Amino acid sequence: MSELNWAREALDKVIKKEKKVLERNKGKIPYTAVDHVFDDKSGDNICWWTNGFYGGLLWQLYKETGDAEYKESAEVIEEKLDANFLDYNGMDHDSGFKWLLTAVADYKFTGNKKSRNRALLAAANLAGRYNIEGEFIRAWNDWGDDRDTRGWAIIDCMMNLPLLYWASKELDDPRFKHIAVKHANTAMESFIREDGSARHIVEFDLNEKKFVREYGGQGYGEGTAWTRGQTWAIYGFVMSYIHTGDIRYLEASMRVADFFVDHIPDTNLIPVDFLQPAEPAYEDSTAAAIAGCGLLHLADELKKLKEKQIKTGENEQELLDKLTSSAPVKYSEAALRILKTLTESRCDFDPEHDDLVINCTAAYHDKDHHFPIIYGDYYYIEALLYVLGKGEYLW
Ligand code: GLY
Repeated sequence: MSELNWAREALDKVIKKEKKVLERNKGKIPYTAVDHVFDDKSGDNICWWTNGFYGGLLWQLYKETGDAEYKESAEVIEEKLDANFLDYNGMDHDSGFKWLLTAVADYKFTGNKKSRNRALLAAANLAGRYNIEGEFIRAWNDWGDDRDTRGWAIIDCMMNLPLLYWASKELDDPRFKHIAVKHANTAMESFIREDGSARHIVEFDLNEKKFVREYGGQGYGEGTAWTRGQTWAIYGFVMSYIHTGDIRYLEASMRVADFFVDHIPDTNLIPVDFLQPAEPAYEDSTAAAIAGCGLLHLADELKKLKEKQIKTGENEQELLDKLTSSAPVKYSEAALRILKTLTESRCDFDPEHDDLVINCTAAYHDKDHHFPIIYGDYYYIEALLYVLGKGEYLW
């Protein structure tokens, strides 16, 4: 299909570039690039939450090209991450991001038993963060200041649940899935607002299932719509649907996706927060890349649902009708628009530069904005492969 030529050309450029990038950066675990040179989070920063993304990028390119150099470097990163297991405070809700893209990917592709062991350890630790009475997975650990974060859960955690779904399947033991489902249900009830926007941080009571309050987190403020958080919700709820078949998660993803698509600016460049002031015009290209992945999966799952003759209980019929009468093309068109714009104006394909996706922002109120971030690169490549009907589903 010629309308996807931009994606084919972009993927060719990515493959040429990333091979050179790897040759210059073997052994590194990058987060960002300074003057186009990757930094390295190995060593003192081995617990940083993004340390799985470069490994995941290498596994995707290994599957695409068959080039063993990608695989070998991904394995080095996975081994380096073992040090993280010995740091209690370094283990948090982000274990899915770290070990799904490294250990689970390795185990899927090579059958490596050590990788399986790592992934199961990570899943067991993640499950241990579950607050049984509050019915949520705790985000982060104590921050050593006066903030009490014991009741905090964040929307990002939806992306980590697939590690629990994987562990249940692998062990044929429903414990992990039970926890994932309980957390996803709490998130569905407490993070998505009436208008479809998703909160970043919600504080829950520690001893009963009760919403206490929300916080603005990495977005502009309380009550606003941090764009990356919206994308964690869109993609995360689709994943919970894929792993459980519960159509309520698909509907949750759709509600946030409707809000997201309705707020995409004419430029197709994604701001850090949909409700931020017009100036400064801070952008976050990572939100664009993740939205691309999430919206494409949502559209495909809705299309598949329409084709399936599924049986449902009477009280779910209304929901099923809503899902099957939706127009999934709205989501795929938006995803393609965003990804094409990213390709044309926010990607650096120069093979001499380590960074790929530019103009990323970690948090609205940070001092720095508009720099490369590794998960922008990972999700952009995942999205390109998916657009072209390739790639591995690592979640
Ligand atoms: N999971 C943290 C973030 O999205 O920045």
